[in-house]
Amino acid sequence: MFDVYKIRKDFPMLDGSKTNFNGAPLVYLDNAATTFKPQCVIDACSSYYLEENANSHRGDYDLAFAVDKKVDCIRQKVADFINAKKQEIVFTSGCSMAMNLIAYGFGAKFLKPGDEIILTEAEHASNVLPWFKISEITGAVIKYIDLDKDGRATPENLRKVITKNTKVVSVAQITNVLGYKIDIKEMSKIAHENGAILICDAAQSCPHMKIDVKDLDCDFLTASAHKMCGPTGIGFLYGKFALLEKMDPLLTGGGDNARFDMCGNVAFLVPPAKFEAGTMNLSGIYGFGAAIDYLNKVGMDNIEKHEFELRKYAISKLKTLQNLIIYNENADSGIITLNVKNVFAQDEASYLNSKGICVRSGEHCAKLLKERLKTMATVRVSFYFYNTKEEIDVLVEALKNGGNFLDAYFN
Ligand code: ALA
Repeated sequence: MFDVYKIRKDFPMLDGSKTNFNGAPLVYLDNAATTFKPQCVIDACSSYYLEENANSHRGDYDLAFAVDKKVDCIRQKVADFINAKKQEIVFTSGCSMAMNLIAYGFGAKFLKPGDEIILTEAEHASNVLPWFKISEITGAVIKYIDLDKDGRATPENLRKVITKNTKVVSVAQITNVLGYKIDIKEMSKIAHENGAILICDAAQSCPHMKIDVKDLDCDFLTASAHKMCGPTGIGFLYGKFALLEKMDPLLTGGGDNARFDMCGNVAFLVPPAKFEAGTMNLSGIYGFGAAIDYLNKVGMDNIEKHEFELRKYAISKLKTLQNLIIYNENADSGIITLNVKNVFAQDEASYLNSKGICVRSGEHCAKLLKERLKTMATVRVSFYFYNTKEEIDVLVEALKNGGNFLDAYFN
């Protein structure tokens, strides 16, 4: 039985003692940026340093074998979490690194002048900037799926832009500002019909809903642990094994090769080791394993349901305020993007901070969206399963007076 108040007890950051500079209790609503960690994740990270501190895949002694075994077991957990195979999971520093790995490892190797890469204007910088570079290196052309009137990328609009020259379609399953859930399964089908691959940026979806890569039939999928109760500095790339075998590593060095010689011949190991040069973030991997266990215990269906309830509740309350512009009233996720009329987003975020409320303001790394939103900056509120309706009430009460932002620091 899902009990948000019981769940909150697992998180040290939610123990009630944390306040802002003037003593207001913290209301953390910036979960699309990063999430709080339950004690079990913090303990798992320390357990690496306290109990099993050795390098992985290099040592011929028990301590190192224990680490190898743990990393292997956590790789399997990540694979099970998205219905993949263990050898299809590459540990990365996060979603950005995973996206760069695909762009440079696959894009730079296989794209040619005139090939097309299809994105949307709603993408995060990590799914845009690597492709700009690949376009510069290879001569491939970047195109965008038109967003519908709400700001959602639809399969119909992908059909309008895709051609036989398209080699890559790369889209977020849930976009990080507008929060729409994209039909990845249908988009994969369309991409494949046209001979392209489909890359799914799951940074904002993997923490909030069940993902089944076999069902989606995407070719690559990326996510970061820190947005799903895990530690910072760790994430993963999922890739169909045949693609992982074909592509090049982004980083090279220790641990990714079987041998090399003085003529420059290198025999790389099979994936995933081929992509994991250098000592891995082992305490991060331990913490990630605990985060996945924790999310499984709470239940992804419960998480999605609770966040949907929070969204419905928040939208119904926020809509009663005449001083707000809500940019994504019809979105499907726990992301609500708004502005207080005539108040610059960063001023509003500072005002909310004076009330103890943490939100993100600005462009949120999605800098192609300005024209569609017709504003330079917005305030983004984002929920996770530990948020409550009472916290939304605090937000709504603060936003009622959101125009008084100039008084925020003088009261
Ligand atoms: N990518 C994170 C966000 O959207 C940091 O806030």
